[in-house]
Amino acid sequence: MWLIFLNLINMNKKKLNKLIKKIFLNHGLSNKHALIASKSLIKAELVGAPSHGLARLKMYCDRLKRKIINPKPEIKIKKISQSITHIDADNSIGFVAADIGIKNAISNATKTGFGLVGIKNSGHYGLSSFYAEQAVKKNLIVFCFTNAPPAIAPFGSKKALFGTNPICFGTPTGKKIPFILDASASIINRGKIRRAEKLNQKIPSGIALDKYGNPTTNAKKALEGVQLPIAGFKGSGLAWMVDIISGVLTGANHGGKVKDPFKDFTGPQNVGHLFITIKPSIFIGKKYLSQIKKNIGSVKRLPKSNRIKHILYPGEKKYSNYQKNLKRCIEIPKNILEEINKLNVIK
Ligand SMILES: NC(=O)c1ccc[n+]([C@@H]2O[C@H](COP(=O)([O-])OP(=O)(O)OC[C@H]3O[C@@H](n4cnc5c(N)ncnc54)[C@H](O)[C@@H]3O)[C@@H](O)[C@H]2O)c1
Repeated sequence: MWLIFLNLINMNKKKLNKLIKKIFLNHGLSNKHALIASKSLIKAELVGAPSHGLARLKMYCDRLKRKIINPKPEIKIKKISQSITHIDADNSIGFVAADIGIKNAISNATKTGFGLVGIKNSGHYGLSSFYAEQAVKKNLIVFCFTNAPPAIAPFGSKKALFGTNPICFGTPTGKKIPFILDASASIINRGKIRRAEKLNQKIPSGIALDKYGNPTTNAKKALEGVQLPIAGFKGSGLAWMVDIISGVLTGANHGGKVKDPFKDFTGPQNVGHLFITIKPSIFIGKKYLSQIKKNIGSVKRLPKSNRIKHILYPGEKKYSNYQKNLKRCIEIPKNILEEINKLNVIK
């Protein structure tokens, strides 16, 4: 315990944000794009998802250095109708493409009641909840999808092909805390395994198989093998669905072709994202908010299982992590800070 404690370094958020933004600027991003990217990494740390935070900075920089993330993309936004937009992200860093995409989806739904945005030629965009939150803050219901590099073996196969392809749904709740369900189709997200590998930690049992098909708690072996989907063939089916709507529908890579950003530097990833936004009032008018409050209330009042004090709705935990962590410094494992410092020196 003490060893783990001693290996963590506290850093002030503002200072850290400045440092990460500077590193992105030095790797060719514009001021605006560097700010979007650095804020996304810091936000992941603040909500308690370090799997999608600073531990990934080196990967983004390695790809920017080789220009397989395009530092100066010419993003093309094609309006198909008042509600539908198709975006070619020109291999921008995923955060930027997705930020433009969700803003379009918000604007489309605000005008017409419904927004659909498909994005191709993008990259890894971090947490889907970043984008869902933006839509919910504008009082919209939202779905966010992205595909990802091979990690899950389709049911019946022993070879990884689907990504951990998260499914994200958000809705306003009439309260401060939005409902945001943001879950990968794998039992745990791949970032947690990557971070465990980096920090020399074991992963829980029952979530991955090594390349020979044996259960493993070794992070490196799990990354070489396959991750298990949630609920067997149902999770495999959900990962497949996300691959179809994010990849096939948008014109992005799919069917195992999204490149692994950590180890495949032969070209851009061409990840696809799909955002759907809906005005909650479209069917029942203003009653939506009173109904959703009732709905959540009826779940929260249920008798609790043993040792459970409160029934939470999705998003509550991350919201409370964020509020708590806003007042604190960010804890960074020593080896990740060393990596950041090196990136700050080497261009
Ligand atoms: N960009 C990518 O390629 C990619 C790929 C996979 C995952 N991800 C991201 O990784 C993140 C984490 O995924 P995960 O599957 O590990 O998430 P998780 O297991 O931490 O949480 C899944 C969902 O369950 C909810 N939840 C957690 N505890 C709860 C409780 N006690 N009661 C009620 N609800 C609860 C959370 O709010 C969340 O919505 C997601 O934000 C996802 O978008 C990104």
